[in-house]
Amino acid sequence: MISPETIQQIQNRIDILDVVGEFVKLKKRGSSYLGLCPFHNEKSPSFTVSPAREIYKCFGCGKSGNAIGFIMEHEKFSYVEALRWLAGRYQIEVEETGASPEYKQQQQVADSLTILNTFAQQYFTKTLRESEEGQAVGMTYLAERGFTDEIIRKFQLGYCLESRDGFTKTALAAQYNAELLIKSGLTVQRYDQPSDNYRGRIIFPVHNPTGKILGFGARQIRKNDKSPKYINTPENEVYVKSRLLYGLYFARQAIDKQDECLLVEGYTDVLSLHQAGIENVVASGGTSLTQDQLRLIKRYTDNLTIIYDGDAAGIKAALRGLDMALEERLHVHLVLIPDKEDPDSYVHKVGAPAFREFVSSNKKDFIFFQLDVALKDAGNDASKKAAVVNQIAETLSRINKAEDFTRQQDYIRRSAEILRIDEAGLNTLVNQHIRAQVAKLESKKPGDAQAYQSASPELNPAPEQTQEEKDAFDLLNKEEANERQLIKVLLEFGDKVYEEGSVADFILAQFEDPDLFENKALYNILDLYRTQYLAGDKPNTKTFLYHTDPTISNLVINITEVRHELSDRWNTRDEDLNYDTIRKGYLKYLGKEYIVKEEMADQERYKEDVRSTVTYMQLKKIKKLMKENQKDMERAQSPELLAALAQTQVTLRDLALEMGTHLHLKELEIDMIRRLGTVIIK
Ligand code: UTP
Ligand code: MN
Repeated sequence: MISPETIQQIQNRIDILDVVGEFVKLKKRGSSYLGLCPFHNEKSPSFTVSPAREIYKCFGCGKSGNAIGFIMEHEKFSYVEALRWLAGRYQIEVEETGASPEYKQQQQVADSLTILNTFAQQYFTKTLRESEEGQAVGMTYLAERGFTDEIIRKFQLGYCLESRDGFTKTALAAQYNAELLIKSGLTVQRYDQPSDNYRGRIIFPVHNPTGKILGFGARQIRKNDKSPKYINTPENEVYVKSRLLYGLYFARQAIDKQDECLLVEGYTDVLSLHQAGIENVVASGGTSLTQDQLRLIKRYTDNLTIIYDGDAAGIKAALRGLDMALEERLHVHLVLIPDKEDPDSYVHKVGAPAFREFVSSNKKDFIFFQLDVALKDAGNDASKKAAVVNQIAETLSRINKAEDFTRQQDYIRRSAEILRIDEAGLNTLVNQHIRAQVAKLESKKPGDAQAYQSASPELNPAPEQTQEEKDAFDLLNKEEANERQLIKVLLEFGDKVYEEGSVADFILAQFEDPDLFENKALYNILDLYRTQYLAGDKPNTKTFLYHTDPTISNLVINITEVRHELSDRWNTRDEDLNYDTIRKGYLKYLGKEYIVKEEMADQERYKEDVRSTVTYMQLKKIKKLMKENQKDMERAQSPELLAALAQTQVTLRDLALEMGTHLHLKELEIDMIRRLGTVIIK
């Protein structure tokens, strides 16, 4: 856990312009900044950053958030990862709380290792570029393989000298301790002497998704070298092979944008594809994918395309464990590279466009691929074929989430075709497997099994939404729009003058009933505001911008209006957030025509906003009371109703005359609308 003090420190230091500016080119426009949205493809900029409000908002795709949210979205970080990234950027020391001493100790070792690794990477890169041996051996080798200077730089490649301890000596002299050097795998004990582990090799640094160096792969260069082709960092506090993917740091944005991740086997495959402009690519290091790696991919995309060379060992490694991918709900495709080539050699041979074309036209759905392989294997053997049928049913039963129901049906249909068996029969078999899994879960964890069951489409088909439900939903949306508007007015104008007090005084006095709010989170904001306001604070949107409860911070960001210079198109987009739209919509909903009144003086405008918004909410209050009143028409003069009406500035004299029957209340409602009209309708 990162301590609250550290989080506070980070929040105080954050400059959203600086954070977003690192990834998006921004231009000043009025009080805010404009750029091309990094979250969707666009030609004219609709991405706005407001330094005053400390938020960003895209009027094209609708994404919005604070600086932490931006980093999370852009880099696909978790909240904690984003905080650590920001801490690193602003050189704030991260204080951990609630962590056991062991955890802290481990964290310290991890930090030391990444610092040492960075030091090593810089040393090896320098050696490659500046030493005679580095150039003569290392650079020559890389050039022969066709790697450009740009790609060598980008991937921070390096070279380790042939000498026994060139690196180790330098590191010891720089005060890195021997024990850490051994742990990092950079140094080994050879004949009782600390020696460099990667002597005479090309160094490939391995990064985590945030760009920290976790370890290295070191490739031999010498011909007739009997030692392993690659020496990799041993498992330690930061290098955990099952959890990392080579190249992800350089690929993550391309994966996100293209919504597809290509997976290859080796370091050089990643480099060559990048060089060819295919950047959404990572490497697994030749072993089968682990669940952690699949989840890592899943953060960025649902589509995984595995590109392996056609030899049997590669395919087997690729297929192993891929049923797990189904459970992670990844859509997996396979492409086999022909003629004993691998992606690296193949892209060099045919060029980037042909490579792309090959991949897209040879992509095979992994399930059908597996089916093909198994069927070929089975040949004419009937019992083997039955086993294949059973196996595919098992596999398909793992596509069990409700959203994937149609996908599952599609697979069943096409598999039945390939197998030339009855579709209904295969369906039954798949369901048997699902039931078997449910039963298994039930015997383990009764609670979980229920969740599983309700997620199973076959047992629980999604009900159709009725018109009535749809109408109710629409109405809810409208009511919520009013509530949002109220909170927005409160946050924006809370400390401005209104009647005898402030806007906040006026609003807070009238809304103490949570039941008036359809969206309880909005009421929570009002309530938080009240607490802080009564304690003497003057809360505003920024107060809630970094609230620990994301529903609250997201809501506030959502209702915060960002001013910007508008192009025509944006103007219409902006209406979503515009008070006029809500007002118009509401009147339309009540069956009233509207005529928008003349612009009023800008500085007085907020009063109009306050008055109208509050009145709508009061109207709702009256309606609520009316509904209750309906049950008990005789006792119409409930004090609550009177109070509510008094607040709507309908005089008590009027009330005395008009109260009494439901019909009169109805009239009152109409009167209310008319009153609203006197303000906003000419
Ligand atoms: P490859 O033998 O295909 O190597 O192993 P490569 O990356 O294509 O390298 P070049 O093109 O021959 O130079 C694929 C991956 O398997 C892991 C490495 O991660 C490698 O990139 N590997 C291979 C090892 O870890 N150790 C080895 O000895 C060999
Ligand atoms: Mn290769």
